[in-house]
Order: sequence, then C-alpha cells, then structure tokens
Amino acid sequence: MTTTISVIGTGYLGATHAACMAELGFAVIGVDTDPAKIADLSAGRLPFYEPGLPELLRAHTDGGALRFTTSIAEAADADVHFLCVGTPQRADGLGADTTHVRAAVAGLVPHLRRDALIVGKSTVPVGTAHELQAVADALAPEGVRVEIAWNPEFLREGRSVEDTLRPDRLVLGVTSEAAEQTLRTVYKRAIGAGTPVVVTDLVSAELVKVSANAFLATKISFINAVAELCEATGGDVTDVSRALGHDARIGHAFLKAGLGFGGGCLPKDIRAMMARAGELGVDQALTFLREVDDINMRRRHRVVEMATDELGGSLLGRRVAVLGAAFKPLTDDVRDSPALNVAAQLQLRGAQVRVYDPQAMDNARAVFPTLAYADSAADALAGADLVLLLTEWSEFLELDPAQAGDLVAQRRVIDGRNALDTDAWRRAGWSYRGLGRPRME
Ligand code: UGA
Repeated sequence: MTTTISVIGTGYLGATHAACMAELGFAVIGVDTDPAKIADLSAGRLPFYEPGLPELLRAHTDGGALRFTTSIAEAADADVHFLCVGTPQRADGLGADTTHVRAAVAGLVPHLRRDALIVGKSTVPVGTAHELQAVADALAPEGVRVEIAWNPEFLREGRSVEDTLRPDRLVLGVTSEAAEQTLRTVYKRAIGAGTPVVVTDLVSAELVKVSANAFLATKISFINAVAELCEATGGDVTDVSRALGHDARIGHAFLKAGLGFGGGCLPKDIRAMMARAGELGVDQALTFLREVDDINMRRRHRVVEMATDELGGSLLGRRVAVLGAAFKPLTDDVRDSPALNVAAQLQLRGAQVRVYDPQAMDNARAVFPTLAYADSAADALAGADLVLLLTEWSEFLELDPAQAGDLVAQRRVIDGRNALDTDAWRRAGWSYRGLGRPRME
C-alpha cells in the first residue's frame, strides 16, 4: 500500500517538500489556508520562482500522486503529517510568531481517526514542539495517540529540490523508536549511502536549525566586519577571504563579503533566537548576534554612502541603475532584500533609481511600488550616472562591460556582491568599487 503523506502549509518549504515527496513515490496531499495558492498548485502552477520545481509539480499533479486542498480534514487519513507553515517575525517584537504552527496542529488533530505522527519542519523557537505535543494531547479524539517529532529543514531557496532530494544530513528529533523508524522509512529513498542521520530529542532538533542559521549569519557578518577594516586601511577583503577559506577549519563557504544576508530566514532567525534566549533567561549567551545583525545592516548604509561619494556628495537627481531586487540569485523572494533596501534608500535621498531583476520584478513592485522599474538590464543602464550590482544573477555577471559602457552616461560601477570580473570592467574603462576593496580606476 502506498504511504500517504500530508504537507500542511504550501509556501516555499511546503510546496517543495510536497512535490519532492511525490517524486520519491508517496501519495501526497498539500494543505493551505490560502485558496489562491491552492488553486495555482492544483493546476500545476508554482506561485513563486524555484528552479526545477515547476517540472516536479506538474508531473505529479498530472500523474495524480500530488493533490492540494484548503480543507485540513482531508489530510486526516495520511500516515505521516509534515508541518511546513511559516513562523514569521512577530509584529510586536523580534521573536517568531508560532500562531500558524499551533493553528495547524489544532486544526488537524480533532479530525484524526487513528494514531498519527506529526513532523514539524518549520523553524521554531526552542520548546515549541513540546508545546505542540500538549496541544495535540488536549485535542486528540478518544483513543487516538498523536506524537510530535521535529525534523528541521535546511534547504536553500534556489536549490530547494536538490537540497530536499539529496540532503547533506537528516536530523530526526523524536520521542519514540517507532517515530524514528517511520521517518527513516519515509526518507530512505532520499538518503544516499553515507548521508549522516542525527537522531536526537525534540529540543536539540529545534536548536540545530536555529543554530545552523545563526552560524551562517555570523560567518557572513564576520567577513563583512573584516571588510569594514579593509575599507579603513586599504586592504582587499576578497584576498583576505580567499586566504582564510583555504584553512580547512574555516572553509570558503559563506565567507563572501558584500551587501550581507537577507531573505525570509537568516535575519528573522537570529532575532528570534535572541528573543528566545531572553525569554529563557540566558540572553547574554546570544548578545553577539545583535552585533551580527548590526554589521549586516551597516553594509546597506555603506553602499548608499559609497554611491553618494561616487556621485560627488549628493544623489539629488542623479540616475542610478540598480541591478538586482531579489535577496539573492535564483529566487524571486524579496523578503528583507538588501538590494531593495538600498534602492529605496537611494530614492529617499533623491536619486532617480531604476531597478531591474530577472525574476523578482512583481514581488519588488508589490513591496516598493514607488520605485521605478526597468524592463531589462539594458533599460536600467540607459543614461545611468552610476551602476550598482546588488544581486549577483549570472545575467549581470555575463554583461559585456564595453557594451554596458555604451549605454550609461558615466562608467562607474559599485559591485555590492564582489562578483564582477574586476579586470574586464576596468579594461572597458569603468571605475570599479567593491565592498571592502580599494577603489579601482
Ligand atoms: C538559509 C540557509 O542557508 C538554509 O540552510 C536554511 O534552510 C534556510 O535559510 C531556511 O532557514 O529556510 P536561504 O535563506 O535560502 O537559506 O539563503 P542563503 O543561501 O543562506 O543566503 C542567505 C543570504 O546570505 C543571501 O542574502 C546571500 O546573498 C547572503 N550571503 C551568503 C552572503 O552575503 N555571503 C555569503 O558568503 C553567502
């Protein structure tokens, strides 16, 4: 008999998880409270950009292994339930809002007719799984036993399909042998030989996720702090980073200085982790994360300062081309996007900004409707006094600097991601500024 899986919450995480579980051969039912999202997904249309996912979604909605509904009652018969709803930053503070995870458990449990395993994948404040177990115990129908497990997700937007189908590790936070076995069976087809599986308690599993994101954020802010020193001394952070990364204990990954981190996860997660530490009375343990956040936000102001400086001290009426709106390449996600933040700051200071992004235009317009948007990179560059590369899409890295130079009013570029071929741009007569690097004529 085919195992049936329900996925509750079909945003970036849930839609990916649902399609990948169908790809692994399970019958999958995706549930979401948003009827527009469910209508799109049911028709095989992905409501956001994610490479490789539309193909999986279409194949399995057409093939019948994957269906979507707004009715949580329809998920009740599944063998395993995955919780993939969002935990956004709370409107009244820095902590994570767990309303949706609670609502999902409270919505599902009364419909259950047999014992069930609910597996949390959402990023939650430590202690949430135990609270959800209490909610489930209180609402479970007579004779039905509900077990909560925690199986944090480490997928990156833009690479979510490969990260789900071939994870670099699995973390299974469980309270029983049976739950561990069920999860091992579900993931058997995804785990390559040698993929590490860490079996642990609920609390530790929750902590792995927030700690991983906090570590990644810290690594990025560390190198961006070094970039600040480079700017004060004339050093070149790209060389420092390269040399540091050769130390196997440090490594090259997440050591790229630039405009810093954004998106729906890293900024929110470090704030939520600090808030939770405060609630637990151990706030001192994580005060350094405030610095990590501050260093990150300072990079955005620094780019605005650099732009002002490049344009002789005032942005008023100057034409600035902004290349990039998504928080990173390969996504259309603009949540806490450093690129859009900088574009908005430039505009507030009087610049005539024109933004272009290969995928994120609609989302950017929805968040910053008053910014001006170009139809193409060439359109953004036309007549610009200054060009800012803020999201390192390959389309921008492949621009021909000579051709780009013919479009602009002045050949000045600020590379907010230290990603352009510096020599090629300089040879084509551009003045080049990177973050944490000396100015290059
Ligand atoms: C992040 C984590 O990498 C995932 O493991 C995690 O599952 C996910 O959050 C989540 O919690 O859901 P994601 O937000 O998709 O994934 O983005 P990342 O690839 O981590 O990039 C985050 C930001 O850091 C981007 O703005 C990127 O431009 C920036 N970054 C990354 C740097 O500035 N420098 C680097 O060296 C690397």
